[in-house]
Amino acid sequence: MSSSTQQSQASMLAAAVPVVSVRGLVKNYGDVQALRGVDFDVPAGSVLGFLGPNGAGKTTAIKILCGYLAADAGSVSVCGLDVATHALEVKRRIGYLPENNPVYTDMRVEDFLRFAARARGLSAAAVRNGIDRVIVQTGLAEVYRRYVGQCSKGFRQRVGLAQALIHDPELLVLDEPTNGLDPLQVVEMRALIRELGLTKTVIITSHVLPEIEALADNVVLIHRGKKIADGPLATIAADFSGGLPVRFSVSCSASQFEQLLATLPAQVVENRRAAFAAAMPNVHAAVVEVDGPSGVAALAEAAHASGYPLLELTPLGGSLEALFQSLRFGGEG
Ligand SMILES: Nc1ncnc2c1ncn2[C@@H]1O[C@H](COP(=O)(O)OP(=O)(O)OP(=O)(O)O)[C@@H](O)[C@H]1O
Ligand SMILES: [Mg+2]
Repeated sequence: MSSSTQQSQASMLAAAVPVVSVRGLVKNYGDVQALRGVDFDVPAGSVLGFLGPNGAGKTTAIKILCGYLAADAGSVSVCGLDVATHALEVKRRIGYLPENNPVYTDMRVEDFLRFAARARGLSAAAVRNGIDRVIVQTGLAEVYRRYVGQCSKGFRQRVGLAQALIHDPELLVLDEPTNGLDPLQVVEMRALIRELGLTKTVIITSHVLPEIEALADNVVLIHRGKKIADGPLATIAADFSGGLPVRFSVSCSASQFEQLLATLPAQVVENRRAAFAAAMPNVHAAVVEVDGPSGVAALAEAAHASGYPLLELTPLGGSLEALFQSLRFGGEG
């Protein structure tokens, strides 16, 4: 057998064996059922987008996966190791950037990274090499002598990413890594994650679809502790060939708006009347779902026919966005 055939067989095998395997994961906090039997795999070398509205159970699943929280039922294996019985070995293979990035603000960047490396039990040489490597990898050269607390939020997030990479893990787990960053910092952080995704298996959680669209190969969508979709984004989007969400607002009284909603050729996803009631009592907005572009035109006609001034009519995106919007407006439950 030629070495190139052996190599391609080895890479096919690596692609076939998932780095992470989650089966029947259940977790309750008292009466709150945070996870109600979640299964998914993360293929080696892929970027998984773990998507769900606030309170869906993402952080809970991530903490269990990284060995920081015990499940009530189900199992997780990382690189073939069961997290429940091999937590320490699993932690060696994972770089974890927790939600809200807990960093020590009163340490210099360099000292914080040294601290993180030593806490992981790296040898003196590995500590030095690790710091040099992550400073380049995460673009920290200009701030590494600064106090973490004096760094911008974007750089602080990079410091969090750098500590997650210090031991050169196979799997990188990032819980809402762009949350709270300004738009430019979001772009920079995404570029960094995209680059890391070229050489590592990555799980990234988010409660916003565009984040996942920008970064992930595959998506696991969870809602109220249950998985509701799993696969490449394009496949999932095709499966949810539901309506197109449109936000529109008109100027009329509250009761006139209710009547208008009842007669529209569309499904009401969200009635935002309350949001405007105090500031602009005569402006009412809703998100409705229509059947594609022709439905948008029909909606515009219906609004026009009502005689109330139409202030806005904005299609919000594709069918997956529609599904996701409806989950978000459905709340945590
Ligand atoms: N320590 C806890 N004690 C009690 N309930 C909790 C605890 N942690 C989370 N929960 C609840 O469990 C559910 C799942 O929470 P989790 O933080 O896993 O969701 P999430 O998808 O990460 O949400 P977010 O997008 O807001 O970060 C929520 O209803 C939450 O209120
Ligand atoms: Mg969370």
